[in-house]
Amino acid sequence: MRSGLLEVIGSYLGVAYHDTSFLSEVSRPLIPRSSTLYAGFMKNNATDIHVPEELKRGALKPDEERYIDSGAHLLRRIPEWLGCGSLEDKNILDVGCGTKFTQAILRDEILVKSYTGIDVYQPMIEHLSTTVADPRFHYHHMDTHNEMYNTSGQPLTPDTRLPCAEQSFDIICLFSVFTHLAPHDYRAMLQALRPYVKPSGQLIYSLYLDELTSGGHGLINSIVAKHDLKDWQPSGEPFRDAFPGKPLQWALYSREHALELIESTGCWAVDSINEPEEHIQHFIVCTPK
Ligand SMILES: C[S@@+](CC[C@H](N)C(=O)[O-])C[C@H]1O[C@@H](n2cnc3c(N)ncnc32)[C@H](O)[C@@H]1O
Repeated sequence: MRSGLLEVIGSYLGVAYHDTSFLSEVSRPLIPRSSTLYAGFMKNNATDIHVPEELKRGALKPDEERYIDSGAHLLRRIPEWLGCGSLEDKNILDVGCGTKFTQAILRDEILVKSYTGIDVYQPMIEHLSTTVADPRFHYHHMDTHNEMYNTSGQPLTPDTRLPCAEQSFDIICLFSVFTHLAPHDYRAMLQALRPYVKPSGQLIYSLYLDELTSGGHGLINSIVAKHDLKDWQPSGEPFRDAFPGKPLQWALYSREHALELIESTGCWAVDSINEPEEHIQHFIVCTPK
């Protein structure tokens, strides 16, 4: 049924640019604002910033509240996933940061020690740099090549340097970034980030694995469910750039290759590889070797 899947993917050429909601890692409202859980997570005196829609990333960007809620949800879950209690004493590096974590931290007064956002999208980084006054926040533009997001950038290599102090971050996170990285960049990104994590720090990133999941939240599940591909099988390929005509929209990795690439860096150990949840694709947690 692999050809069936490819045909369906092909059919997205005419549709997906206008109907990408099912691709989002965050597809539904998260914690109702009225819930006790939400109330416990937010504080008074929230400070919102305005971010023009064209500077936002992701399928939820037209709906400001759901967009920021999705960031708040992930930020709330990170301590659980990392087993680290809270973000209050954490220096966080968010690579491919987009805007929703910034907006969620400010709106809900989520406690972090510091937040550093890096992205290839210069207008967004400039907007955040000039709009966010809170001294815990830092932003840097990184002009690295990505076939989907920054075709004129410089190649990402293991020696690519970030404008940050080495061993300064407790948490390095990349949400919906490896979902758009080719294998050479997957490996180079892991190597380039390694100097910046504290010896006790952790790395967390989401990615698309080319497999069905029992929970039903993965990209492949979405495609299969949407098109009733009951007998779908994984491609067996280590990697496939699966969305025709839009490079790296769907960077699909086999589980084995995703892990091999980490192993090949020699500098990260895999702590866990986690199934997609309602609001996130597969995600991997690593610690520095
Ligand atoms: C799908 S968006 C996710 C944004 C944000 N992490 C979120 O979850 O809302 C992917 C982001 O990664 C950025 N990006 C892509 N390749 C990158 C690279 N090599 N280095 C830094 N950022 C990159 C893009 O500009 C984009 O803002």
